[in-house]
Amino acid sequence: MVNVIEIAPSILGGDHSRLADSVGKIAGAGLKWVHVDVMDGHFVPNLSFGPGVVKALKSAYPDMFYDVHLMLDNPHLYIDAFARAGADLISVHAEPEYPVSATLDEIHLVGKKSGIVINPKTPVGDIAPYLPKVDLALLMSVQPGFGGQSFDVAVLEKISSLRRMREEMGLSFRIEIDGGITASNVGECIRRGVDTIVAGTEFFKNGASLLKAVLEASAL
Ligand code: DX5
Ligand code: ZN
Repeated sequence: MVNVIEIAPSILGGDHSRLADSVGKIAGAGLKWVHVDVMDGHFVPNLSFGPGVVKALKSAYPDMFYDVHLMLDNPHLYIDAFARAGADLISVHAEPEYPVSATLDEIHLVGKKSGIVINPKTPVGDIAPYLPKVDLALLMSVQPGFGGQSFDVAVLEKISSLRRMREEMGLSFRIEIDGGITASNVGECIRRGVDTIVAGTEFFKNGASLLKAVLEASAL
């Protein structure tokens, strides 16, 4: 089973004074996915966007697919709000203490796709119990909180392991990577099994090279 490759530019790397224009750039590049990083200042040391921003962008660009990455200590309290705002896929981290499995169920109950996320230091085996019920598994390749950090190559082995687990379990969830993605490292991620690529800084600064590198790697 092979998923079609999607690039999900992160609006964290866009122009925060003109977020709708940043989504316009994504649409203009022929892409459909928009990655929205939501931060609470507790689980990660930064604050970013709330459901109001998702709602505004969804109304400006209703045909885009909003891939909402919740970096929150209490993500289960906000599923309904982001679903109503127009999120299409909601991802939650495995690290904080909250009912992870029930939260993934709730995401489906409100009619959205679900994702499970792990930080660079969290072993991939930790998410095995959730894999049968998710549409996507997201591997962080930087410690979350800020755009513009350097890619941690230790994630490469995790991509391979996750792909093996997916095969062994007979599942078809997407494998997404997030953090420090550039035109130089995206090819190796795709070869290892990534099919969904988050890119903030690189998309908005160097988008043409990124798209070219993705096309070249997907053609192999
Ligand atoms: C980090 C976020 C990422 C970030 C990626 O906390 O989850 O989505 O915006 O940005 P770049 O591509 O600049 O590393
Ligand atoms: Zn993210």
